[in-house]
Amino acid sequence: MANKVLIIGSHGMLGQDLVRVFEKDMNWEVFGYDRDQIDIASEESLRGKIEEVGPDAVINASGYNAVDKCESDEIEFELAKKINGYGPGLLAKICADMEIPVVHYVSDYIFDGEKGEYTETDKPSPISNYGRSKLLGEEEIQKNTDKFYLIRTSKLFGKPGKSEMAKKSFFDTMIGMAKDNKVLKIVDEEKSCFTYTPDLALETKKMIEEKIPFGIYHVVNVGACTWYEAALELFRLAKMDVEVIPVSSSEFPRPAKRPRSSVLLNTKLKPLRNYKEALAEYLKENYSI
Ligand SMILES: NC(=O)c1ccc[n+]([C@@H]2O[C@H](COP(=O)([O-])OP(=O)(O)OC[C@H]3O[C@@H](n4cnc5c(N)ncnc54)[C@H](OP(=O)(O)O)[C@@H]3O)[C@@H](O)[C@H]2O)c1
Repeated sequence: MANKVLIIGSHGMLGQDLVRVFEKDMNWEVFGYDRDQIDIASEESLRGKIEEVGPDAVINASGYNAVDKCESDEIEFELAKKINGYGPGLLAKICADMEIPVVHYVSDYIFDGEKGEYTETDKPSPISNYGRSKLLGEEEIQKNTDKFYLIRTSKLFGKPGKSEMAKKSFFDTMIGMAKDNKVLKIVDEEKSCFTYTPDLALETKKMIEEKIPFGIYHVVNVGACTWYEAALELFRLAKMDVEVIPVSSSEFPRPAKRPRSSVLLNTKLKPLRNYKEALAEYLKENYSI
């Protein structure tokens, strides 16, 4: 009989690829739900669906990702804490009661960026409300269950989520901007790793299937870079004639502080491929480049 996986946030950028990756494998039966069917912030909603399905594993790909909005607005910060922090904690409690593993994704923004590169055991110290809400999720999950995979990742790219509000990845945004502008100013700071959502989804499936020890993992594509360096690579691969000018982050002030450099070091798993190879695949599949 097939194993059952329940995926929360199944319409998001990562959620859609998780559904795709598990559905391709006959050994898994997939139950994907987005916010209209399961609210991560409601214990009643979570418990109802999870008990009805009786999954062998639960993956939470939902998230509050409006980094700047929750910096300047207290009500938004409360919402971020519910979706990224307390909700995942409730989920962990339910999964512990049912003795099943839970997977949850965290961000490099839980680090302040001063050290530059971070291993799985480095101490988090967020500098934004978004980072604080994601760290709260780590704490709440660990408080409520021992059977957890906390996967820290950064700068996701893949097909945008299905909802109208879905945030596009950096690469899709750049391609859109390059259609109307032949010169682009891009921030040459905030060094970190890009992560291709199909690669992250496959790695998540492998971690569950191989029953590797529970704990904190860093899953990113190889090849740390700044936004500027990534834009250069994008336009080179896409053969687009765009002049890219490196600028400081002070040229584009935003409410929330970003870590200066938050490279997630993966010391526990086999490394994923380089982001350049993954980006070439994304461009071929989605833009026929
Ligand atoms: N994107 C990145 O660069 C990045 C970096 C590091 C870590 N992460 C983490 O990776 C995970 C996946 O990110 P992503 O970029 O794939 O996110 P995403 O595209 O924004 O998708 C999140 C999904 O969750 C849904 N959702 C929102 N509120 C919900 C609620 N209360 N209950 C249930 N579902 C809800 C969203 O629906 P609506 O669209 O209708 O709101 C959306 O479909 C998140 O935990 C995120 O924090 C992302």
